[in-house]
Amino acid sequence: MNKKKDIRAAVQQQTKQTQRALLSWYEANKRPLPWRLNQDPYRVWISEVMLQQTTVNAVIPFYNRFLESFKTLHELARAQESQVLQNWSGLGYYSRARNLHRAAKILSKNGFSKTAAELCELPGFGPYTSRAVSSICFEEKCGVLDGNVIRVLSRHFGLNVDWWKPKERIQLQELADQLAQVERPSNWNQAMMELGASICSPQKPACPICPLRNSCIAFKENLAAKLPLKKPRKTKQIWVWRADLIKSKSKILFVTNDYAPFLKNQWLPPGKATLESTPPKNFLFKHSITHYEIYVILRKSKKPPAKLISQFTHKQWVARENISGVSPTSLVSKLISLSL
Ligand code: ADE
Repeated sequence: MNKKKDIRAAVQQQTKQTQRALLSWYEANKRPLPWRLNQDPYRVWISEVMLQQTTVNAVIPFYNRFLESFKTLHELARAQESQVLQNWSGLGYYSRARNLHRAAKILSKNGFSKTAAELCELPGFGPYTSRAVSSICFEEKCGVLDGNVIRVLSRHFGLNVDWWKPKERIQLQELADQLAQVERPSNWNQAMMELGASICSPQKPACPICPLRNSCIAFKENLAAKLPLKKPRKTKQIWVWRADLIKSKSKILFVTNDYAPFLKNQWLPPGKATLESTPPKNFLFKHSITHYEIYVILRKSKKPPAKLISQFTHKQWVARENISGVSPTSLVSKLISLSL
């Protein structure tokens, strides 16, 4: 397995028989998920954005709650941003919810774009979401590439490649696109993702019952544990966040965050964030966001000097019951529940 495999040559190994095997497995085994009731682009789009953050089982309750609150694209477009964020709470990555709302306003006015190239122009629609929506809802013949698909491709074609690097990523996307030249790309892409989410799992894949076992190089050469290659981990950074909880008339001061690298431009209590080499001895709690390990220290203040407050240009005073609408992140909800 030492020599890097040529991704471009892989497609020649794809046969009609492998295609049929995967598609019939999908027909027989697909999960009856709430966004699979039909090919409605609004419903599929919401599911695909949520699924970028967590697993299918974890998404279902959030998805149902969101669709109950915003039944149609137009309802979402008309909603207040704070309502959208509130319905996103628990999912994290709030910039996704903001982009979702911005894109909904455009799509509601212009109608739903049908091709990946057009969808890609919208806020929050990257290559993955655009291709997922255009193929699943409009049968555009393009392949989706997410972690599950990368795993299936790497194992099936025995690709020991650095899939996280741009050049390899482009080649894998080309491979996924070539494989999706089938009659129903909607089923094809969902079958690839479903296989990656179930049988071709990261640990202990169920190779003996896999529909692709006869043509899978990793199965033949016993390489499933080694493929895909492991992406080198980004080292964790230790940050100390000194948060100022400033209260006035039972409201709390929030400012747009331009001082910490995590939760950038979101509403946070004012404060200071410093990068450290070791964790502090005393802190209220620890919270992780991507590669940021955040140690929270609270600075309570009832009577801040007016001068301090006037230095913030983007600020608002928020009543406790409204905080989750303004700042739905679990970092803030933990801070508030542990300190008030
Ligand atoms: N993961 C993300 N989107 C998916 C889909 N449409 N089917 C199966 N797994 C998925």
